[in-house]
Formats: sequence, structure tokens, C-alpha cells
Amino acid sequence: MHAEIVVLPGDGIGPEVAAAAVAVLEAVATRFGHTFGFQEHDIGGVAIDRHGEPLPATTLEACRKADAILLGAVGGPKWSDPNAKVRPEQGLLAIRKALGLYANLRPVRTHAAALGASPIKAELLEGVDFVVVRELTGGIYFGEKTRTADTASDLCSYSVGEIERVLRTAFRLAQTRRGKVTSVDKANVLETSRLWRDVAARIGREEFPDVALEHQLVDSMAMHLLAKPREYDVIVTENMFGDILTDEASMLAGSLGLLPSASLGDPGAVGIYEPIHGSAPDIAGKGIANPYATIFSAAMLLRHSLGLDDEAATVEAAVYAVLDDGVFTADLAAKGFAVSTAAATDAVLAKLQ
Ligand code: NAI
Ligand code: MG
Repeated sequence: MHAEIVVLPGDGIGPEVAAAAVAVLEAVATRFGHTFGFQEHDIGGVAIDRHGEPLPATTLEACRKADAILLGAVGGPKWSDPNAKVRPEQGLLAIRKALGLYANLRPVRTHAAALGASPIKAELLEGVDFVVVRELTGGIYFGEKTRTADTASDLCSYSVGEIERVLRTAFRLAQTRRGKVTSVDKANVLETSRLWRDVAARIGREEFPDVALEHQLVDSMAMHLLAKPREYDVIVTENMFGDILTDEASMLAGSLGLLPSASLGDPGAVGIYEPIHGSAPDIAGKGIANPYATIFSAAMLLRHSLGLDDEAATVEAAVYAVLDDGVFTADLAAKGFAVSTAAATDAVLAKLQ
């Protein structure tokens, strides 16, 4: 097949890890007889420097026409003055909203070779394999904000339609996995959560009777996620709860540098694939960033946007194989020998030949 992929390298280590994932996609194209076109555009801080805005119209236009979008990361100290009129992160929120990407999929899978990098006991971590589906374009992050001299407020609101669509994404995903959905809310306190729970129960009963649905309060979920992470298959939750739980979940896998994400919308929407980590300014330019999260994100791109399941599984198997070989970047190596971004990428490419 032929696919046009827009690459948004962004800031800090973004360009370093995006280049690694592009090399992997090129190797996949060669091996499986596809052709992929890559078009680079600016987003984030680099876009502010070059165009005066974090999401230039030329970038958004190219993204709308693409088959999929691969993103590095945005942000950095250069653009982080809280009083600045434009900030890199605005580019991310704007592109997700503009493309209608309301479901953020964050798979968390532990791999035996990397367990040592996690601060959690290895016996709790073996065989962990779940996906968090985080609602991405609603809730308190997008609600009306007010501020007076002595009060501030952020409005959290959700419509039935917003809840239904992200829940359907979660249920459909569970049908392709182990058939279990855990819906996370705070229904003992929040009205939006009571609506969320009602909608989840109805969608589960009427549309997905084959999927087991359980409800979980977010505070106890934070605890269960560490105490019994193997029990979960698909976890679905609203925007802010998902933001917090996924950072917690990253500690299960051992490093932020291992966790990919996909931001998806209705069928036909152009998906964005990116590592969950940021631009890591502390290590940018040193050539030591872990490229695996972005390579796993490229695998999700192959699976979810291009329908290339075998190719996606081949890429994932290649990364697991190099982890088994002990090819660790500094974030995974603890005190042992660490390889560069380029060497880690070459090891994956060698497995793909
Ligand atoms: P971060 O994820 O960039 O870094 C946190 C820590 O993890 C750092 O010590 C970093 O060196 C390390 N790290 C992250 N990714 C790594 C990788 N691939 N390999 C090895 N080590 C890695 O988060 P931080 O420091 O809070 O934010 C830095 C900048 O990134 C900020 O401007 C922030 O706003 C932005 N950011 C952007 C995101 C995005 O583009 N989606 C997400 C999170 C933060
Ligand atoms: Mg976050």
C-alpha cells in the first residue's frame, strides 16, 4: 500500500526519536513492499520560533490531508515563561481538537528484560498488559476558567455524546483483547462521573454484552493499579483522571521511554502517534534518548491508521527482541552499559531485515 505520513518532530529529543521511528517505518515499507511518503512540518516551540505560533496553518493543513501523523514531543525551557502569549503545548491541544481526536490510547505492557528499571517489585509486574483509553478533548481541561482576586474556578462538563464515543472506542478495543473494560470515575462525588457511569452501563448492556464491564472509583484505582496491575485489560476514563493514572502507569513499564500512544477519533479521522514522554530538555542533543516509545508509537500507527496488523506486530517483536538482547539506553540500563539512540535504533532495524 501507499501512505502519506506527516512527521512533526517538535522540540528537544523530539527530532531524535522521530527520526528513529521514521527509519523503522522505512524498513517496514521495504520489507513488506509498501511505499510511505514522509513530510516534515513544524509544531511547538520550533514553530513559535519560525512562524510565531505553535500550530501554523500549513502544518494543520498537511495533517488534515495525511493518512497518519507521527509526533516527537514539544516544549522546553526556552518557551516556558508562564506569562508568554503562546506556548508550545497549545499546539498539541489545538491539533487534537482540530482533528477530533477524542480518544487517547496508552498501552502499558511490561517486558521481562526491562522489569529491573521499574521501582515496583518484579513479581507484581510480570505479564502486565493493559490499555488506558483517556478522553482527550473534554472535561475540566477544556471547561470555562474564571479568576478573580480571591477565587478561581475550572468547569468540568461532559455531554452524553462525548462520553458515548470514547466508551465505544474502549469497548471495541476490549473486543480485540481480553474482553474486559474498567470504567474509572468519581461517581460518589461528581455529577459528571454519575453521568459517565450511567452511559457506560447503558452502552455496555445494549451494544457490548460480550464485554465484561466494571466500574472503579479513581482514588482506589490509583491504588489497584500498583497492587494488581495484571487484572486490567482496557481502562477507560475522563481526561484529567486519565492524565494522572497514565503517568502512574508508566512506572510499571520501567521507563517513560517505553510507552507509546495513539490519539484517535471517529473512523476517517487522521490519528496522531507519539511517545507519552515530553521533550526531555535535560538530555536533548546528546544522542542518548530512548527511541523505543516512539518506535512502538509507529507500530500503533501501522495498526490503527493503516490497518497493517502484521507489520505492527513485527515492529513490536523487534523491539522486544532487542530488549531481550539487553540493548538498553541510559534510562533502562541502571548502572550497566548503555547504548546511544542511534545504536538502539540500528539494533531494531537489524531485527527487521
Ligand atoms: P519529560 O517526559 O520530557 O522528561 C521527564 C524525565 O524523563 C526527564 O528526566 C527525561 O530526561 C526523561 N525522559 C523522557 N523521555 C525520555 C526518553 N525517551 N529517553 C530517556 N529519558 C527520557 O517531562 P518533563 O521534563 O516534565 O517536561 C519537559 C518538557 O516536555 C516540558 O516543556 C513539557 O511541557 C514538555 N512535555 C511535552 C509533552 C508532549 O509533547 N506530549 C508531554 C510531557 C511534557
Ligand atoms: Mg500528563
